[in-house]
Amino acid sequence: MQRLSRAAWIYLATVLLAAASVFVHVLVPDLDWDVTAQVAQILLVLAILYLICDSTPATLTSRQSAWSPSSSAALAAVVLLGPAGAATVGAMSLFSLRRGGLRERAFNGAMNALSAFAAGEAYLALGGHVGVPKPGWFPAVILPFAVAAAVHVAVNHGLLWGMLLLLPPAGVSPQRGRLDLHLPLLLVSDLGYATLGLLIAALWDLVGPFAAVLVLIPLFVARWAMGQFAAQEGAYSATMAALCQAVETKDCYTRGHSERVSRGATMLAREIGMGADRVAAIRYAGMLHDVGKLGVPTKVLQKTGPLSAEELAAIQLHPMRGLEIVRQIGFLTEALDGIMHHHERMDGKGYPMGLAGHEIPEFARVIAVADAFDSMTSARSYRGARRIEDAVAELRKWSGSQFDPVLVGAFIAALRREGWESQPARPPAGFGGGAAAQDHDDPTAPLRVAGNR
Ligand SMILES: [Fe+2]
Repeated sequence: MQRLSRAAWIYLATVLLAAASVFVHVLVPDLDWDVTAQVAQILLVLAILYLICDSTPATLTSRQSAWSPSSSAALAAVVLLGPAGAATVGAMSLFSLRRGGLRERAFNGAMNALSAFAAGEAYLALGGHVGVPKPGWFPAVILPFAVAAAVHVAVNHGLLWGMLLLLPPAGVSPQRGRLDLHLPLLLVSDLGYATLGLLIAALWDLVGPFAAVLVLIPLFVARWAMGQFAAQEGAYSATMAALCQAVETKDCYTRGHSERVSRGATMLAREIGMGADRVAAIRYAGMLHDVGKLGVPTKVLQKTGPLSAEELAAIQLHPMRGLEIVRQIGFLTEALDGIMHHHERMDGKGYPMGLAGHEIPEFARVIAVADAFDSMTSARSYRGARRIEDAVAELRKWSGSQFDPVLVGAFIAALRREGWESQPARPPAGFGGGAAAQDHDDPTAPLRVAGNR
């Protein structure tokens, strides 16, 4: 369990005390509120619903955080039971099956009770009615409910952020990292799930407790389907990682190269306004662009002297070998063009097909720029890493003849905005052992061929 700073302990205690005061001063006197069989039934159903939702969050995709529709139950309680009932439902988080230790459970229970209570108070303050909604309540109830949903999200995320900011060491908690990345998405999705609370409440008069089932079952089915999608995406990533690892094991001087080319190609793709699907595909293309090296003899890849004509031909076949290796992987689609043609040149002097200008697929022109840039800015056994400014100058120099000039300009703009992590100036110790003294991606050091000096 993570150690808390003094400030975090004080913060935790304050949140717990605030929640306790809600229950002592508001909830307990409210217990003489008309606890009819119907109120008890609503409270029980919503508490169970909240617990189920909170205990079974689902990750939608690798780029998103866990998803839990528990706020639907809390907001339904705001309408059906009022602030005290909503706080009770929110406090169910204390018993959630996914929470960690007692401290985390206590904080989450208090946080969710307070946010539900604040939402209930906001709802009442704006004239919202409490109870099972009647048709005549609409549309007057919509505005108070919308404000209550916004208050719920704001208080919930505000209290959570307060704690994450105080967690030691500041700023490096994985939870906080996820929130930094996904905050806008989380806010919007939480607001959306909160809105479902009104739907549950509105249906209660008609179908009773089945309102919750009617509203949330389709969501759970959708969530299951999206969870499958996330699992599939994870399998894709694992496939990519395994193939990259195989290439880098065979050709050890390219350690990390595939990942960096993928990052550079993605930056460039975003810069020129490619859609999300194509950006995802080019990420794969960058990772797998040299997978064909698996089909090139290791002794040729690691040769330190000039290459024979046959050895050069073997290296120049790697884009086609790459295509043969991965063409059966259905999801790669346009990425295959990038793998096949990433060594074509704008002047038609590249390989394997000798395509020129815009005959070269866009994916391949993008990969070519990112590939050469990473090759130049990484250390090789025959030279140190070039400075980023020098590599940019080389890209400009070869713009038009080797690289697409529009893409070179866009890549430089993306570099200025997003930056690039410099690689070590010298290869790590032991790097030269068995590593190639030549790099087919380096435009400043073309492959040396025997009899061609
Ligand atoms: Fe290559």
